[in-house]
Amino acid sequence: MQTSPQQDWIRDLVVYQIYPRSFQDSNGDGIGDLPGVLQHMDYLEQLGINAIWLSPVYRSPNDDNGYDISGYQEIMEEFGTMADWEAFRDQCKARGIRILMDLVVNHSSDEHPWFEESRSSRDNPKSDYYIWHDPAPAGGPPNNWASVFGGSAWEFEPRRGQYYLHIFSKKQPDLNWDCPALREEIFSMMDWWAEKGVDGFRVDAISYLEKPQGFPDSPLPPQPDGYSLFNNWVAGSEGTHRYIRMMHDRVFGPRGLVTVGEVSLNRPEEVVDYVDPDRREFTMAIPFVPPVVEIATWSPEKLVADAARDWALLGERGWWARFLSNHDKPRQVSLYGSDKAFWEPSAKLLGLLIHTLPGTPFLYQGEELGMTNLAFSSIDQYNDPEAKNRYRQLLLEGTDPAEALRTIQLESRDNARTPMQWDDSPNAGFTTGTPWLQVNPNYTRINAASQERDPASILHFYQALIALRKEHPALSRGDFAQVATGSPTLLAYRRTHARETLLTVLNFSPQPVELPQGLVPQGAQALLSSYNREGGWQGTFTLRPYEATLFLLPAAQA
Ligand code: GLC
Ligand code: CA
Repeated sequence: MQTSPQQDWIRDLVVYQIYPRSFQDSNGDGIGDLPGVLQHMDYLEQLGINAIWLSPVYRSPNDDNGYDISGYQEIMEEFGTMADWEAFRDQCKARGIRILMDLVVNHSSDEHPWFEESRSSRDNPKSDYYIWHDPAPAGGPPNNWASVFGGSAWEFEPRRGQYYLHIFSKKQPDLNWDCPALREEIFSMMDWWAEKGVDGFRVDAISYLEKPQGFPDSPLPPQPDGYSLFNNWVAGSEGTHRYIRMMHDRVFGPRGLVTVGEVSLNRPEEVVDYVDPDRREFTMAIPFVPPVVEIATWSPEKLVADAARDWALLGERGWWARFLSNHDKPRQVSLYGSDKAFWEPSAKLLGLLIHTLPGTPFLYQGEELGMTNLAFSSIDQYNDPEAKNRYRQLLLEGTDPAEALRTIQLESRDNARTPMQWDDSPNAGFTTGTPWLQVNPNYTRINAASQERDPASILHFYQALIALRKEHPALSRGDFAQVATGSPTLLAYRRTHARETLLTVLNFSPQPVELPQGLVPQGAQALLSSYNREGGWQGTFTLRPYEATLFLLPAAQA
């Protein structure tokens, strides 16, 4: 059996990502936890989502907030116990919510027992579980490779007289996928979770499993600290795809799991290699684009053009993850919309976009409330290792510290990691203690409780949006066709399935725009809109800033 969208339920998924550390603290230690997640199961059910992607909850020393795993079959103490996880699983099952566990298998923590053994000598049984290399002939690291989080990607281990490789922090040594025993450990661990009832995995940083033979220098220009990034350069090699196919054939396929690969693409077309069902790899992919690149290159026109390109690449065969937010990105309303003057309509427009394009919509916690970025006033307030490294690199480049801080304020992953804003009580109801990361002070205005009371809120808009997916199969199964509007910020596209056609129209800008005559056909019915518009839609009139509407077209137009 293949994991492919031919399994009908995959087309119906609406996935909600929980970053447990920031979701709900239940015991006052300032850190979100699994019992905290359980407090909000009704909230999630009411939202209408039917799958949860749970960011890592495994045992971890938290060098990278759980993306450094020291026990794959244990729960992080701060988050609770395995019994808490089982209670979460049972609650999900009872409510028809599928569970996607985040799985980090490019690397483990340096505190994982495998690594402790591997580093202890050159001839222990787990010696090959990680990637070890002798020093360069002149001494020092074997090559010029940079870690994503700064400095060399190699760290010296005196007990072996060798270096180990870490694409991410030095507390995240890369696993050696070339070692059959290591692969078998990973596969049986995946099996164990599937056996415990998970429906699938979001597989972290998965494009780098195979490292090039002989470990040549990266051809990319050096960063300010002298090392050259290499991860994108090695991404997506044949060997890496072979390893992913092994996971599929050994675990994902036989168990019918849904899988979401977090991939690095050097060309957009490469996504096909990961998600074409014939290749037996993943169900869908989440392409990783560094925030600095996304901030510099995105545009409304590009968002829809990219969707059109994906449709041309995969058509009805393949499948996509649709998202604007996750724990590695700034908040979507701040990045793509307007977090000030047009906060509410722009947050709604972004929701409408994601839920009406082909593929599975992914929501990141707080997006459904229009949560915004938070600019910390000092670099010390940041927790994100990537932000700290970027700040260092900027200073090395000679950037003025105030300017460097402004860059971090825009880019940092901590923007997405500030605690959930549940209500207007102290710390937004997230904790009774001191939160591990500062709560955004706008919680008195932006919070779930007040939006639950307001039928015109962003939260209610998302509930309606998710409900529409169930009523209109054109959203989950329809063809996609872009409609020309003559403007780069006025976007329109149709989704058609059987005899039904839906039309999305988005004024993706803070300026009003005139709606061209005929773009919305006679008799079109507005299903959901980012503004209330009294009166009809026919003829020519002006769309307000970030006005966005989903229409059902009359049968004759379909
Ligand atoms: C992925 C995760 C990110 C983490 C990195 C290393 O990109 O989404 O949060 O830092 O992998 O595991
Ligand atoms: Ca806690």
